[in-house]
Amino acid sequence: MNTSSPKPSAKATQSGKRNRTAVPDDRAVNRSRKVRSPLPYTDLQPEAWRDYPDILTDSLWVFPGRERQNGHQLDYHGNCIPQILTQLLTRFTCVNDVVLDLFAGSGTAIIEAANLHRRAIGVELKPDMVQRVQDKLQQQGKTPHATLICADSSNLNTTSLAIQQALQAFNASLAQFVFLHPPYDDIIRFSDDPNDLSNASNTQDFLDGFERVCQQAFNALQSGHFAALVIGDKYAASEWVPLGFMCLQRMNAAGFKTKSIIVKNISGNEQGKGRTNNLWRYRALKGGFYLFKHEYVMLFQKP
Ligand SMILES: C[S@@+](CC[C@H](N)C(=O)[O-])C[C@H]1O[C@@H](n2cnc3c(N)ncnc32)[C@H](O)[C@@H]1O
Repeated sequence: MNTSSPKPSAKATQSGKRNRTAVPDDRAVNRSRKVRSPLPYTDLQPEAWRDYPDILTDSLWVFPGRERQNGHQLDYHGNCIPQILTQLLTRFTCVNDVVLDLFAGSGTAIIEAANLHRRAIGVELKPDMVQRVQDKLQQQGKTPHATLICADSSNLNTTSLAIQQALQAFNASLAQFVFLHPPYDDIIRFSDDPNDLSNASNTQDFLDGFERVCQQAFNALQSGHFAALVIGDKYAASEWVPLGFMCLQRMNAAGFKTKSIIVKNISGNEQGKGRTNNLWRYRALKGGFYLFKHEYVMLFQKP
């Protein structure tokens, strides 16, 4: 959806700090107001690529730290860094578009969508997190731009209906971008709720539940638009479990076309360091494996 509203700035940087050089200059903004992007899903204009120095186009993303400004904080074990959303939303959505996050958690995507003048619908299973995100949005005066739904994203009946109603309240029938940051199987147990994907009895059940969420995403997304999946692998019974690629296959099974597999360094979420790091280094050397220092940002398009 294109509107005549002012264009958001491409404001995130890899250092996690706001950088004035990242903001397109007035010349670029004026040009973009006169000339609409030829791409239906973005305000960016490929011909003006020189004006977007901080929009990443390579498949290796290295962020030295987490952005902690503009409403973002490290307040949830398992949340993602906001710069992922800044990159994705700036590149793959337009001002006023509707962003659907089916694992909203502490609301990183919802807050960044509001920062960038997008609207957002977040679905999250845990009522306390839904309340926390609503409180944050209220404190920041962003409530008109976002709707939170406390529900199971894998439910293709009642939750689909609730998403439809939220879209209608925004005068929309479909979302223009979907963000998926599911539990990485059982790596972090988020709750005791049996519908929580981190409580699946085994990896196969986790993947089956995840595929229903992929279907939810596919049904709610406008054709030609993008979905992103943030996921990491896991290690179990002395074996590397390629969760990322397993989830990618489930996205494809739901109908999505794979556009990119981005490898991103894990940073900004570490809780303990020092001695624990040494212990893991010892275990890696002894066990013949490598320690996880990356996760994936996988990009898909609905045909
Ligand atoms: C990796 S976290 C997402 C973190 C989020 N991106 C953030 O930055 O805060 C995964 C979230 O999915 C939620 N979740 C797990 N199963 C779910 C389900 N079936 N439906 C909706 N949410 C679910 C968990 O409660 C958890 O908050």
